[in-house]
Amino acid sequence: MKATITATAKYLPKRVLSNFDLEKMVDTSDEWIRTRTGIKTRRLVSEGQASADMATEVAKILLERSNTDKNEIDLIIIATVTPDTMFPSTAARVQHKLDAQNCWGFDLSGACTGFLYALETGAKFIESGKYKKVMIIGVDTMSSIIDYTDRNTCVLFGDGAGGVLLEPSKNNNGIIDSILGIDGAGGDSLILPGGGSLHPASADTIKKKMHYVYQDGKTVFKFAVKGMADISSDILKRNNFTGDDVKLFIPHQANKRIIDATAKRCNIPDEHVLINIDKYGNTTAATIPIGMDEAVSDGTIKDGDLVLTASFGAGFTWGSMLIRWGK
Ligand code: ACO
Repeated sequence: MKATITATAKYLPKRVLSNFDLEKMVDTSDEWIRTRTGIKTRRLVSEGQASADMATEVAKILLERSNTDKNEIDLIIIATVTPDTMFPSTAARVQHKLDAQNCWGFDLSGACTGFLYALETGAKFIESGKYKKVMIIGVDTMSSIIDYTDRNTCVLFGDGAGGVLLEPSKNNNGIIDSILGIDGAGGDSLILPGGGSLHPASADTIKKKMHYVYQDGKTVFKFAVKGMADISSDILKRNNFTGDDVKLFIPHQANKRIIDATAKRCNIPDEHVLINIDKYGNTTAATIPIGMDEAVSDGTIKDGDLVLTASFGAGFTWGSMLIRWGK
């Protein structure tokens, strides 16, 4: 039995932060940001809005689009590195806001690969036969952990949420294969150092700005370019597909140059590659489901299409997945 995506949804907060706005905040330029990353604007939450709020908007749309009653949901998995609180989980908050009475759920931390980790996890619950309706939501409020005086990171990230409903496929569509990996040796290159059990929040951790994202962009870039290209080409090869078979490649949106290099390696033409980094920046766990929803909403992907998706992120973590779209 295969698990398949039966509904998609996204939520982007209304507030827009443009490259021109950032020019007024740090020593940067629209030209630098566009040419080095592909980003023009990103969205930010409003005062008081947090990850569970965005995830709940996504969950409500998923219920509506799939004609599902909230009490039919069996499991909610939330991929995030910016939970509202360390505990209770964002999943618990979303369950409560939805008033879904018959489910359980948990948060999963996989940074930019979090959504693919969660999709694989959810698929296994469906394949077990015990679970029929699993919500997978990727959400991140990156603005809550970004230092808006650090030009190395503040230009890159945005806030947002996206999600899917996973159900057993009636027609053998769905997730065909996945490659997932982790290597903690890359940990220090992209990290939120403070606030956890290693460096609990204190006046000192705040003074040292350890509650903000630190990234060694060059190192991450080097591993991401090779990593994403390798796993995308490997998953095609081992399933006897080529880039020509891919109707849409939905890559994680961290840097347009990483995406272009991966597409080139897999011989996937530009018109079959989803790019929305220009509008939203890097929304961490949310980029791939936001991309899926855009592609479904505008008719780019239809039942029967082969979709390739891939990601690389903090950890390091990485993943690629092949999906035959349809119920
Ligand atoms: N504006 C202007 N100049 C800048 C800016 C900025 N916003 N940011 C950095 N610079 C400067 C640097 O200080 C450096 O100056 P220097 O040479 O005088 O020191 C110069 O620009 C070049 O910096 P590089 O690091 O060489 O620039 P690069 O081409 O590598 O681009 C970037 C930087 C965009 C961060 C890139 O390295 C990148 O995309 N890295 C990977 C990001 C990624 O994939 N992250 C993983 C996913 S995120 C997650 O999992 C949460």
